[in-house]
Amino acid sequence: MNRCLQLAQLGAGYVAPNPMVGAVLLYNDTIIGEGYHQKYGEAHAEVNCINSVAEEHKQLIPLSKLYVSLEPCAHYGKTGPCAHLIVQHKIPEVVIACRDSFEKVNGHGVQHLKDAGIKVTEGVLEKEALDLNKRFFTFHEKKRPYIILKWAQTNDLFIANTGFEKLAISNEYTNRFTHRLRAEAAAIIVGTNTARYDNPSLTVRNWPGKNPLRIIIDKQLSLSPNLAFNKQDISTVILNFLREEHSGNIQFFKLNEKDSIPDQLMKFLFEKNINSLIVEGGTQLLQSFIDLALWDEAMVITNSKFETGTGISAPVLTEGKLFQHFNILSDRIEIFKNLKQ
Ligand SMILES: NC(=O)c1ccc[n+]([C@@H]2O[C@H](COP(=O)([O-])OP(=O)(O)OC[C@H]3O[C@@H](n4cnc5c(N)ncnc54)[C@H](OP(=O)(O)O)[C@@H]3O)[C@@H](O)[C@H]2O)c1
Repeated sequence: MNRCLQLAQLGAGYVAPNPMVGAVLLYNDTIIGEGYHQKYGEAHAEVNCINSVAEEHKQLIPLSKLYVSLEPCAHYGKTGPCAHLIVQHKIPEVVIACRDSFEKVNGHGVQHLKDAGIKVTEGVLEKEALDLNKRFFTFHEKKRPYIILKWAQTNDLFIANTGFEKLAISNEYTNRFTHRLRAEAAAIIVGTNTARYDNPSLTVRNWPGKNPLRIIIDKQLSLSPNLAFNKQDISTVILNFLREEHSGNIQFFKLNEKDSIPDQLMKFLFEKNINSLIVEGGTQLLQSFIDLALWDEAMVITNSKFETGTGISAPVLTEGKLFQHFNILSDRIEIFKNLKQ
């Protein structure tokens, strides 16, 4: 099952809004096939695994055990149901890490296998498998994307200089790590001041992968058309109070003025099938998500060798349990989880 999870991870950034899934076919403790879901809309892990079996081993398939990191699907989506494929190949035993909470699958895949007389074992490395697909599960269970708050702060807890002057806080190795986070996200959002003064491109540059959907708050459409997010050929959403329209890659999404922006954004992203979001700053935007307890994970980067004495204060995380921490040179990376979610 560990191998299934390793394989599944290779689909990171390419399969959303589908889950990452890996599968391994074992004959007498020897792997005769393996595969993973490589790209959204393309073959599932089980299909790639069965197709990978060498011609001379094909007759062993009905004598083998299939390990798969997620319950096989039982519905017709962009591809046929994997539970049916397993039955067709007469695989006698299936080991599953976790169930698929997507309502069209949840339990139906397991039931289909059992009805065909297949021995099914569930819950092997379940915690790891649930964590691997935290974006997918959160999306289906909470009807909103998995939310990661991310910011870098000086050792004295500032995120920018006074006057919105940008600070390069984290080092180039940490930046690779954060670009990997971007490559694995479906969307990324910044507030108006960050767009105006930092002029970020919000693209993936220091890691291979796809660019997330960029989201900017610009209520009165006051930001300059010359800013980076307007220029590049990447899908971008501008949340505003004035206009609802598409113009090339840019979607202007009109908000109402009475409900909170994070709440309206959640509904919009769920309908758009966006299953993960990075909130990249600045402080006002991050704090609004914290105050609503609307986040799942927070990545806080603190450069222990950098102090400014003054500036724009970093957000304050009021809840959250430290889940993981490590250092990259003088940057301390802390990952918190919101246990209230
Ligand atoms: N170190 C880091 O990791 C990092 C990351 C990003 C940015 N920054 C720094 O952060 C600084 C800007 O921070 P900031 O706190 O002033 O700005 P911000 O959050 O980028 O932008 C604040 C503005 O965005 C709108 N906004 C944000 N959240 C909103 C919400 N929940 N509901 C409604 N409107 C919302 C408001 O616009 P209106 O004024 O139109 O109402 C608000 O004034 C920049 O100088 C940048 O360098 C640092």
